Amino acid sequence: MDSVIEIVGLYTRFGSHVIHEDISLTIYKEEVLALVGGSGSGKTTLLRQMLGLTSPAKGSIKVLGTEQYDHNHEGQRKLRTRSGVLFQQGALFSALTVFENVALPLREMHMLDEDTIRELVMLKLGMVGVEGQHAGKMPSELSGGMVKRVALARALALDPELLFLDEPTAGLDPVLSEGFVDLIRSLREELALTVIMVTHDLDTLVALSDRVAVLADRRIVALGPIPEIITISHPFVKAFFGGARGRNALRALQLP
Ligand SMILES: Nc1ncnc2c1ncn2[C@@H]1O[C@H](COP(=O)(O)OP(=O)(O)OP(=O)(O)O)[C@@H](O)[C@H]1O
Ligand SMILES: [Mg+2]
Repeated sequence: MDSVIEIVGLYTRFGSHVIHEDISLTIYKEEVLALVGGSGSGKTTLLRQMLGLTSPAKGSIKVLGTEQYDHNHEGQRKLRTRSGVLFQQGALFSALTVFENVALPLREMHMLDEDTIRELVMLKLGMVGVEGQHAGKMPSELSGGMVKRVALARALALDPELLFLDEPTAGLDPVLSEGFVDLIRSLREELALTVIMVTHDLDTLVALSDRVAVLADRRIVALGPIPEIITISHPFVKAFFGGARGRNALRALQLP
């Protein structure tokens, strides 16, 4: 299988606070890899490092064959157009309309004329199920579910190969959350995306992930498909998958 991200021997610290200690992780083409771990365990930081937005203290992160920290700005710029991101916070720019939010990454390319931009924005909005009549609205006029969809349209604006999702269903009610998960699932297949997703929501995890990486004690303590992960006796894994919530979500997998 082709790998698209290779992390080897990664260490991260902020001041004297050590976040990651010798993390190695390979992510394969077209898989959905879910990253789980307690609050503050360094999930968002790891995503930011894969995106080249935060540097590790030590170690290597190769994304689509390019080392993130070799100071080759041209390589990194190209790489950025091959990744789409849905951030945990601030999904949309509040001062820009829906249209302008989705157009932003296209405008930053400085290569497309206004007609092409318009066509692409409407195409992406259609892909995520947002009707054209909402294009002129401000983010404050949208429902939470719609904000997520528009943010997803923006993440997909440049036809990325990699999609990074940080808590994609946080703040959505169960119905909206299920709808959003279905949308990600169908787009993932349609667009042959590799998805790296952080989530603490078990239903989202069960519905979307091929493999799960558990971040705890500054390391990856478990890595594999859910049926394998739940057999691991680590306190975080037990707390996360155990209990009634866990059993309910896992029922969807129909494990023996
Ligand atoms: N730029 C920064 N400077 C200093 N400390 C930071 C910085 N970014 C993150 N941290 C710290 O690193 C740790 C990991 O943060 P991170 O946001 O990656 O956690 P997380 O696993 O995403 O948590 P959550 O589930 O709450 O989103 C936290 O203790 C956080 O305070
Ligand atoms: Mg986070």
